[in-house]
Amino acid sequence: MVDTKKIYMAPMEGVTGFIYRNTFARFFDGIDKYYTPFISPGEHRNFKSRELKDVLPDNNAGLNVAVQMLTNNAEHFIVTARKMMDFGYREVNLNLGCPSGTVVAKGKGSGFLSFPEKLDAFLDEIYSGLADTGLDISVKTRIGRYEQDEFYELLDIYNKYPISELIIHPRVQKDMYRNTPRMEIFDYAVENSKNPLVYNGDICTVEDYERFAGHYLKNAENIPDEPKSDKERNNKESDKKSANITAVMLGRGLISNPGLAGQIVSGSCTDRSTLRNFFDELVLAYREEIPDEKNVVFKIKENLFYLVNLFEDKEEYWKRIRKSDNLMELAAIARRMIGDGEFYRKKD
Ligand SMILES: Cc1cc2nc3c(=O)[nH]c(=O)nc-3n(C[C@H](O)[C@H](O)[C@H](O)COP(=O)(O)O)c2cc1C
Repeated sequence: MVDTKKIYMAPMEGVTGFIYRNTFARFFDGIDKYYTPFISPGEHRNFKSRELKDVLPDNNAGLNVAVQMLTNNAEHFIVTARKMMDFGYREVNLNLGCPSGTVVAKGKGSGFLSFPEKLDAFLDEIYSGLADTGLDISVKTRIGRYEQDEFYELLDIYNKYPISELIIHPRVQKDMYRNTPRMEIFDYAVENSKNPLVYNGDICTVEDYERFAGHYLKNAENIPDEPKSDKERNNKESDKKSANITAVMLGRGLISNPGLAGQIVSGSCTDRSTLRNFFDELVLAYREEIPDEKNVVFKIKENLFYLVNLFEDKEEYWKRIRKSDNLMELAAIARRMIGDGEFYRKKD
């Protein structure tokens, strides 16, 4: 067990929609907040039916959910944020991280990071346009489009606004998901952000979390007054800095091991019967929601793409899962894997 901050489930388009979130919450603990995959408020200000379903209050009852939006149009953001407020949400989130080519080409997601002046004007408009609502407006950002040095200017801009939480995935767009998170830039944010920070990126195991927590979260809650010695004073300074990290956001690691947040928070183990019941419920829920079985197969495969990582023979399992296009067969392979597969352990 480690000293924990809050833990959030990352938005993952195609993966963490309302069916996944609800099923997950029935079986696993440890998540303080869920983020919807992005919705794209459009010209006509109406949602696609898939997007609307994902944010309908009835489909998110009992969960702490923030709605993420992908846009570079302040008016669209404001109109949609107000709708979300009418739905009962207390937080909306701006996506400044999506690295997909088509999104970036339109100057949205991490593509917006290339236009700091426009971004500044956009933020000015949305924070003033929504000031009367009391909504929390958080931002999820990469650290630049091409180079990490872009982040210094970006942080100056972010510091001008009351961002409820600045969620940082310390990669640039052109990294996509390659390379490792650029922690020196996250350090810069820890030192210089005026807004609370959330860390996101490559936390896939309890050990990853412990390493992060050991470095950034130690004693952050409990800063003693009046340091006596220089050493104490130095410690106090660094503790103060880490105190502005409010949470860690988990993405691929959590979908690979849905018990990860619970393991971090309470030291519990991911047990096979919970995992199996969760998987069965997920299949059932997707079947009820999606009429075409081919699409259910696609959804389940997308999920198993991550879940196989929990097992030692993941390549072998994935080969069989990838080949199968029959739901019953797929479910049988998955059940066998969950029931008998040896859990993966990192070799020393
Ligand atoms: C399949 C997939 C879909 C994603 N969809 C979104 C999204 O809708 N909005 C968003 O902000 N980030 C999205 N992300 C990025 C994740 O939220 C997260 O920032 C990224 O995976 C890094 O965190 P991790 O290393 O814990 O996975 C997506 C990532 C993946 C792999």
